[in-house]
Amino acid sequence: MGTYMMFAQRIENLTGSLVREILQVAQNPEIISFAGGLPAPEIMPLPDFSQAPTEIYQYGLSEGEPALRQIIAQQLKGIGLACEPGQVLVTSGSQQGIDLVAKLFVEPGTPVLVEAPTYLAATQVFRLFGAEFIECALDPQGISPEQLEQLIAEKRPAFAYLIPTFQNPTGFCYSEARRRDIAAILDEHGIPLVEDEPYRELNFTDIKHRPIAAQMKQAPWIYLGSFSKTTCPGLRIGYLACSPQLMPYFSRLKQATDLHSNRIAQWWLADFISNGAYLPHLQRLREYYAERCEAMEAALQRYFGTMASWHRPEGGLFFWLRLQQAIDTRMLLPEAIQMKVAFMPGEAFYANPVAKCGAMRLNFSRSTPEEIERGIKILARLVEQASETLAELAD
Ligand SMILES: Cc1ncc(COP(=O)(O)O)c(C=O)c1O
Repeated sequence: MGTYMMFAQRIENLTGSLVREILQVAQNPEIISFAGGLPAPEIMPLPDFSQAPTEIYQYGLSEGEPALRQIIAQQLKGIGLACEPGQVLVTSGSQQGIDLVAKLFVEPGTPVLVEAPTYLAATQVFRLFGAEFIECALDPQGISPEQLEQLIAEKRPAFAYLIPTFQNPTGFCYSEARRRDIAAILDEHGIPLVEDEPYRELNFTDIKHRPIAAQMKQAPWIYLGSFSKTTCPGLRIGYLACSPQLMPYFSRLKQATDLHSNRIAQWWLADFISNGAYLPHLQRLREYYAERCEAMEAALQRYFGTMASWHRPEGGLFFWLRLQQAIDTRMLLPEAIQMKVAFMPGEAFYANPVAKCGAMRLNFSRSTPEEIERGIKILARLVEQASETLAELAD
């Protein structure tokens, strides 16, 4: 007799993440991987826990280590987001912030407004809790304020989940005007904003935009940050900052989820930042990634020429390549992997299913400039062949 298990209804909505599956394949060192969003390991700081005080090994506060919360609040003030340490919750990666947001707001049928395309693992969580996605088209300046207004009037989303700075998967950075207009619209209609910014500090130019949350006067806001892309993702330290009225809910949700985040990692981070090592490290990181971004831009120009269009990112980890022909890029993946190159098909990043979006997400932080040159050349050949086959079929 088989085991009969009564799973929760929501398990029907539990989807796998294509990124994590491709990442498994892309772990093979022979493969040039543009698939993940991983920081370059050779430039990560190596944490040293040997000086950690012994009391840090004990259970700690759910909201996080006071020293780290203080530092985060200070950083947020520095980018224009008025925020006290009491409004900051240290999380186990910003992914946990997304999970806590879902627990607070989403039940079956809850309308959630997202960018099209958006971060795959956020839609994975919102979907698990039963979200119905309302997609707002994204261009290099951000989502359209007119469409946002229209979607709010039609569907009244429970919140808007946006990644305004060096977006995943597109690398786009919202303009000042769009930020201002979006803040005003959300304020006017009282729609909470969830602003997810793990890439903010990876800027290659002196581009500086205030968070949208910093420009909101009435509607509640939640701002998610992460140290994964700037230090080590394995530490699993991120944070959630929010309007004061939301904090008691997030504190209890955090307690109920995992009591608190890793205290030793928090201790190390607070020390790394306050002893003056973090800022020079960030500067090195920006230069390192800017060089790789430049190498990818040059390779795309060389090999993709008129076959695709793209917007050169001013920070973050990704290019979003739009092919001339709207082919389903998932079909290219097996052959690409055979040819030892991995990428992320664009279709994966749409909350509601799309066929043939003709886009690819290309990560440049994990490969050397030489690998980038080789990998892009191979991808271009593949796309060219696929386009020729399509043209023949159309004849
Ligand atoms: C937009 C976005 N949000 C959140 C995360 C999760 O990051 P972490 O949990 O490592 O802080 C990622 C990771 O790639 C991301 O791209």
